[in-house]
This record gives sequence, structure tokens and C-alpha cells, in this order.
Amino acid sequence: MTRIALTVNGTKVTREVTPRTNLADFLREELLLTGTHIGCEHGICGACTVVVDDEIARSCITYAVTCDGAEVRTIENFDEDALMAKLRQAFSEEHALQCGYCTPGMLVAARDLIRRGEARNEESIRIGMSGNLCRCTGYMGIVSAIAKVARAHNEKAEPDATTRTLGPAPGPDAPDGFATESMASAGSAKPVKAKAPAVTPVLDSQPSANVQTGEMTQEGKFTKLTQTITVNHPREDVWRYMADIEKVATCMPGVVLDGPPQEGHIDGRMLVKLGPISADLAGEADVARFEDEWRGIIEGKGRDTRSASLASGRVEYQLAEAEDGAATQMAVSIAYSLAGPLAQFSRGAIVRDLVSRLAGAFAQNLEARLSGRESDAAPAAALDAGSLVFSVLWDRIKAFFGKLLGRGSD
Ligand code: FES
Ligand code: FES
Repeated sequence: MTRIALTVNGTKVTREVTPRTNLADFLREELLLTGTHIGCEHGICGACTVVVDDEIARSCITYAVTCDGAEVRTIENFDEDALMAKLRQAFSEEHALQCGYCTPGMLVAARDLIRRGEARNEESIRIGMSGNLCRCTGYMGIVSAIAKVARAHNEKAEPDATTRTLGPAPGPDAPDGFATESMASAGSAKPVKAKAPAVTPVLDSQPSANVQTGEMTQEGKFTKLTQTITVNHPREDVWRYMADIEKVATCMPGVVLDGPPQEGHIDGRMLVKLGPISADLAGEADVARFEDEWRGIIEGKGRDTRSASLASGRVEYQLAEAEDGAATQMAVSIAYSLAGPLAQFSRGAIVRDLVSRLAGAFAQNLEARLSGRESDAAPAAALDAGSLVFSVLWDRIKAFFGKLLGRGSD
């Protein structure tokens, strides 16, 4: 047991907790603050959203021990909050709740969205609230209620009643300007000081690379996954390109290096976003190449300081000629291990989906750059992984509800 001292709704609290006690259970069972609801317990639905040190956080995936010294606010603490009072009234007027199970999390997240000036129009509200799921309302009333309050609160709000759509947010077709920051903050208890720029795939329509993802297997603490990436360029060209780690990094969504490699050693960061969950892994890796075998190995480890999660992994690739030398088949084997709060995402189809999409983005970028369709100097900051990551989340949300409603499974 660990002794923690924190402030909850303005009251100092000291308790003994187990290392695995999550904040939601702590609030509900230790402090009887049952306004914080628990839905998925996986950081997806947002029902458990609370405020930790002025940032919204999912209490079901926040360990209570990590809140030692923090200031936590739950839905019970907003009785005197003027903005929350307007939201409560608007939710009632716009019929933004039925069973009310999602409502505490919705209200906490909506208040945060409006305070940050991100509730500008229907689209930004749907995107900003896409980490909060409702099984009853169809979202129309929720969006209307938030838009109503935002209009009065924030001069930037632009009501748009002409293109209403059903469902949470636009999903894989989310337009440019997807609010990645708001998604990131929904999953993090602490502000992020420095982030790797998110990177988006190059979506040229010219010859495209092909990616096939194999099954996942478990070997000890390592999860393994194999992929075959085919690019339409001779093996020599691909091999030469893969020797330049800085160029390779620019093809990889979410990766940024701290500087040039030093004798095969690199330091850098990788931003991984999975809907409401985000990890900014700072780490290092060693790169080895075996010319005779057309084979390379990248072995590294990183740490996400916000969640205190650790990641380690090894990527091995080998190039083979395909299509009479006109193309290259890259056999990739990935082995990784996650420890800490992020470990809950270490297995299953969700990671397979994510890795497969990351590989797809990498392959398309590699193909485009080998074809000279994009300058190597293209700034990473111009790229955006929002839609890529959201598409993973959206597929999962659909599978989650399909399962719940008995219409299919993942
Ligand atoms: S219960 Fe925490 S996000 Fe669903
Ligand atoms: S009102 Fe029932 S889940 Fe949202």
C-alpha cells in the first residue's frame, strides 16, 4: 500500500492505496463521489472524465498513486461554476441526455472544450467531444447544447446548422484541421511540455506501396507482429534509402529525431495517439545493418513521462527482390513490450490495427519519396496524424458498439 495525499474538490485527502487502484475507483469507493461514472474502463468512453490539475483526465486509466499531490475536481465540485451551470441548463433544454450515464463526463469535457475556445462550430465540437460516447441521444442534443453555451461564452463560436450529421465525429474522413491537441489533452493528466510533431502519410495517387500484416503472437513479455511491405522500386534503391536514418524517420508517423545519428545510435521521440489516449515516448535506439543479407535491425526503448509507461522494441527488416527486380519486398518483424498504464493496449486487434496503419503510412511515404514525388526537405510540421489515428479509434468504436448491440464483433 502507498500513502497518497491529494486535494479532491477542495478538501485535503490522505489515504493508503494499492499501486493498481485507479482514480475512478478511488473517487467512487474511497470517497463515495459516485458522480464519476465508469463505462468502458479502457479510456475510450469518457464517462469517468474528471479534472486533474486543471486538465481533464480519464480517471479509469489514471492510477491514484500518480495523483499524489494533485488537485482533483469531480462533477460534484461544479455546483458553483457559472459555465457548468449554463451547460447543465442547456443540456436540459436541448434534451442532451436520456439515461444520463455519460452526462457527468460530457459536462466536464464540454466545459473544458469551451474554456479552451475549441467549441468554435459544430465540427470542432464533434471532434473535441469525440472522446465521450453516448449510447442514448445520437449526439444532436449534446452538440446543440454545447454550441448554445459556446456561442454565448466564446466569440469565436460559429454556429453551423446547415451540415448536420449523425454520430460522434467525422472519423476517417475528418478534414484538415482535425483537433489533435484537444484529443491529446483528453487523455492526459498533465500538460505536455514538448511534443513530437505528428506526421501524416503522403497520399499521392501514383504507384502505391502494399502492406500485409500477419498475426500477432506472444513470446514472454514481447508481443510480435510480422508485416510484408512491397514498394515499387529496386532493392538497391530501397536499401540505400534505408541507410539514411534521418530520411527513414521522416517516413514514420509521429517520429522525430533529436539530431543526426551517432555511430548507429539515435535519440528521439515518438508520438502515439489512439483516440483519447496519447503517449509521447522519449527514447533511444541502435541501428545495425548487415549488407550481405540485405537486413537491418533497430532496437530501442522509450518512456512516456506522463503515464510513466515504458516501451521497448525491436524492428527487423530484410529486403528481397520482387517482380523481376522492379519492386522490393520488405519482410518486417516487430517485437515490443509495454509496461505501465499503456500496457493495457499491448495486445489485441487495436494494436494490430494501429501498427498496420502506421506501416501503411510509412510504406506510402517511402514509395513517394523514392519516386521523387516529395522533397526530402518537406517540413514534418506540415504533416498531421489526426485522421490516421482517428480512423483507428473510429473503427474500434464501431466494433465496440457492434459487439455491445450484438451486430458483430472484432
Ligand atoms: S470508463 Fe473511463 S473512459 Fe470509459
Ligand atoms: S444519455 Fe445515456 S449514455 Fe448518454
